[in-house]
Amino acid sequence: MTNRDRVPTGITGMDELISSGFSDRSVNVVSGPAGSGKSLMSMHYIYNGAAKYGDTGIYLTLEENRENIVKAMTSYGMDIERLEDEKKFYLLDMSAIRRKCSEDMEEDMVGFQALQKLLENLLNYSGAKRLAVDSLTAIGLYYNEASGILRRELFRFGAFLKEKNVTSLLITESLENGELTRYGIEQFVGDSFITMGLEEMKGELRRTITVRKMRFTKHDTAKHPLLITPQGMQISPEAKVF
Ligand SMILES: Nc1ncnc2c1ncn2[C@@H]1O[C@H](COP(=O)(O)OP(=O)(O)OP(=O)(O)O)[C@@H](O)[C@H]1O
Ligand SMILES: [Mg+2]
Repeated sequence: MTNRDRVPTGITGMDELISSGFSDRSVNVVSGPAGSGKSLMSMHYIYNGAAKYGDTGIYLTLEENRENIVKAMTSYGMDIERLEDEKKFYLLDMSAIRRKCSEDMEEDMVGFQALQKLLENLLNYSGAKRLAVDSLTAIGLYYNEASGILRRELFRFGAFLKEKNVTSLLITESLENGELTRYGIEQFVGDSFITMGLEEMKGELRRTITVRKMRFTKHDTAKHPLLITPQGMQISPEAKVF
């Protein structure tokens, strides 16, 4: 698609919160605890882009392997393999790198510079308009957090993405101690920052979503309920959680 200034997620109820979609060519950061729906949001974003809006997309997975992503997407009715055949969807499986990280094989880890080279080629080749990185956590493990290099490299990576003709979704985790992001810096790289929540209320888990910032955009600021059903994720833009 050309000549547009918003990039819709196509997720039920979500685009209403963000003036019809992400800003074109923006970098968007989403954080949340385990099981809050971050990966599912990435799947919807790339799948809907290709299936509903004609945008080629890249889903870079550093957590779950290909088999698990395909299984999950298929269970939500997203026919990823057809879109792959049509070269509208690229699933880039770098989950092996994370497994190696945890085995302490440093030479197999990937930093932002290596990732940038790889993405540069794939973005040029595929003409992708959408990118999801799930998640930044595995890349951050490459760096010594105290050195300040992670911060510099993450900001460089964000600047690289903004130069490209792509609208990105970068996933990161929030921490149990209340920190909104794993490294405490990811929210500053994004043109937008969205948090997902998982809260216990009266013995039941409730999922929520809040748009915390979105540059140059009138956006909703309330915390809204988010449901995951067999059809995927849906947000209630008219309902608020207190
Ligand atoms: N059919 C369904 N109905 C309701 N909830 C479901 C259904 N399928 C999956 N879920 C829930 O959705 C969650 C999956 O969300 P997702 O994998 O996107 O979370 P995440 O934030 O990426 O987690 P992680 O940090 O572990 O990667 C599961 O933990 C499960 O609780
Ligand atoms: Mg996930």
